[in-house]
Amino acid sequence: MGGKKKTSCIGLLTSGGDCPGLNAAIRAVAKTAMHEYGIRVIGILDGFRGLVENRFVRLDNERVSGILTLGGTILGTSRDKPHKIPMGGQVMDMVQVAAENARNMQIDCLVCLGGGGTQKNALRLHAETGLNVMTLPKTIDNDIAETDVSFGFDTARGIATDAIDRLHTTATSHHRIIVCEIMGHRAGWLTLASGLAGGADVILIPEIPYDLKIVSEYLHERRRNGKRFSIVAVAEGASSISDMNASQANGKAKKKTKKHKCNGASGCSGNGGDEDSTCAENPTTCRQVQEPVASRVARRLQELTGTDARVTALGHVQRGGIPSAFDRMLCTLLGTKAVELLVKGDYNVMVAYREGRCVPVPLKQVAGRRKVVDPAGPLVQSARLVGTCLGDQ
Ligand code: F6P
Repeated sequence: MGGKKKTSCIGLLTSGGDCPGLNAAIRAVAKTAMHEYGIRVIGILDGFRGLVENRFVRLDNERVSGILTLGGTILGTSRDKPHKIPMGGQVMDMVQVAAENARNMQIDCLVCLGGGGTQKNALRLHAETGLNVMTLPKTIDNDIAETDVSFGFDTARGIATDAIDRLHTTATSHHRIIVCEIMGHRAGWLTLASGLAGGADVILIPEIPYDLKIVSEYLHERRRNGKRFSIVAVAEGASSISDMNASQANGKAKKKTKKHKCNGASGCSGNGGDEDSTCAENPTTCRQVQEPVASRVARRLQELTGTDARVTALGHVQRGGIPSAFDRMLCTLLGTKAVELLVKGDYNVMVAYREGRCVPVPLKQVAGRRKVVDPAGPLVQSARLVGTCLGDQ
């Protein structure tokens, strides 16, 4: 922490996957900075890529007014990392260029709104160039360390819960199993919370590897008890016990290089939606799509139970549309607190939300850490107590 110079100009960027609430946070930061403290605010376009490419707009009252309820981000976003950025067919380290561009714009502090990858990128930018940074925790995955909640999560939880409610009525009518895939590659917060709120019968999350034989036994039991439909909520990163064991057995080398199978063909998701990893084989062009976990789960459950199974992958619907009231409030609290901190020169922190208050946490404590679901924690315990199957017992 600790720049001494008076803050007179800040840069603002949104990075990683978008989510509802980004505009509410942009508005809170910009309005407070401009009106309360007379600070100039520069909006960097498309995340760190825009910083490297020197693309920005001056934010004024007109640009940030009327955006509180607007989904997405008026600044645009990207998953680019300044130290590994695909440019002109090559992957370049542009950290120094990014900082130089920020300095040329006379930015005293760069405020970055993003998820886990953004926390790391912001810290690297500071560590390697001395540029002052500040971050706000954004992700529907809710997996950022040191904050009780990240913005976007509440809205996505509402959307996923609504979807599960709707799937219930059609699954009941047709006596089907419906497998609903919910976002979350590394953390199951969204699946667990919406599964609990929506009363899913089975909840499968990355933190608890599953066995589909156990799940099918549970579904048979439901049927014996007169329930002819079932809802399975599965996180996109959930994996079976056998897949987990297999990948642990041959995974050490893979883990080191963070490689995934890339055939160079169109369809590779590049980083599997993970801000932290890039396709190591073909980072600029790789677009390989993997079969969604929900399809595999549905196919196998249909075989094992003899019951018709269907798949609904919620996908980016979970990240679209207007932010919930809670997210609008959270973004406003975080954004205003961010400015309060940066006028005091409290830089290089993430503004966290803890027990109803916004507090600064040194970025070093946040970057590179992931908050995952505790398999023995209260949400999992409550799910088990109401008879939900977690796929493991
Ligand atoms: O990081 C947030 C997230 O919503 C993940 O849950 C999901 O896997 C990923 O983004 C999808 O990313 P993309 O928009 O790149 O497809």
